Amino acid sequence: MLKLPGLIDPHVHVREPGGTHKEDWATATQTALAGGITTILGMPNTQPPIFDEATLNLSLDSAKDKAHCDYGQYLGAGPDNADIVAGLANKAAGLKMYLDSTFGELRLDDMSLWTPHFQKFPKTFPMVMHSESRTMAAAILFSAIYDHPIHIAHVSLKEEILLIKAAKEKGIKVTCEVCPHHLFLTSDSPLPNLGEGLGVRGRKEVRPRLATQEDVNALWENMNVIDCFATDHAPHTIEEKDSETPPPGFPGLETILPLLLTAVSDSRLTIPDIIQKMHTNPRKIFNLPEQPETWVEVDENETYEIKAENQFTKCGWTPFEGWKVKGKVKKVVLRGKTAFEDGKFLVQAGYGKNVRA
Ligand code: NCD
Ligand code: ZN
Repeated sequence: MLKLPGLIDPHVHVREPGGTHKEDWATATQTALAGGITTILGMPNTQPPIFDEATLNLSLDSAKDKAHCDYGQYLGAGPDNADIVAGLANKAAGLKMYLDSTFGELRLDDMSLWTPHFQKFPKTFPMVMHSESRTMAAAILFSAIYDHPIHIAHVSLKEEILLIKAAKEKGIKVTCEVCPHHLFLTSDSPLPNLGEGLGVRGRKEVRPRLATQEDVNALWENMNVIDCFATDHAPHTIEEKDSETPPPGFPGLETILPLLLTAVSDSRLTIPDIIQKMHTNPRKIFNLPEQPETWVEVDENETYEIKAENQFTKCGWTPFEGWKVKGKVKKVVLRGKTAFEDGKFLVQAGYGKNVRA
């Protein structure tokens, strides 16, 4: 058995409030545990979005009752809530800024709307950017001008990882995360069409979009520039994905670790890389408390096929359907209690703790 520390996923769409047919605080945290993850940070693009004290409490109250693993909740940056979110910083995972369009209403189009957030949000709490391509370059410039650390979500392009590398070399306080789907899939990957419906086209929709093989290669070649692996677990039901207007997003909590462990067995990655990018670095970047007596036991040699029907997420599909992977999560111990073992969840809803409590 391989023993890993409790893994951290700083980018999860929990979908509660407002989208609980896709996922909720109970299923998101169970799904996390099944994937070997003991802390998730929830994104604010819910319905309503999390952007002030009332909406923050709406999410945190549900999480308190329902979470099976530890958690935090991000605030969303809006056009006129810079003072409000700055005042709530110590209760939240961090501030999420949507600088490019994606699923949900939160979006800051005009750069003049970014300024008050960079000026007011405390420097000791993380600011996470959804910023693609040239928008990312602008976010890095803001970070330099206002001397505010930023974390770039879901880096997918060669031009992005190279710019982040150059910014780090200049001493700009930028960190970043990469998602498994941008490491293992390209825009040409055939996604299996499960069941009826329009299938492939909608299943492929994700933001940032799947990129080219050259982009994927650049991410692997610059592994030392990547601070964290994050799932961007963004569950939408199979019916929604196969509809005429498919929302973007992939589930990922249950597939991240087996995919990365398979890369280890193919000598493309090491176990210390996984520990650094899913435990040590995210703990530091997001200021997360230690979880005493917490570990994950993995059977490194068990090979199996990824199948949606065996997953715990509510969404009912995975872009990695049918992939053969090596490495199965057997047991997760969270703060002294076995929380997951052999496919069973063993702690009560509400056992999960708010990382900012
Ligand atoms: C996310 C979602 O569905 O909430 N979708 C996605 O494609 N990643 C939003 C996001 O993170 O951009
Ligand atoms: Zn996301």
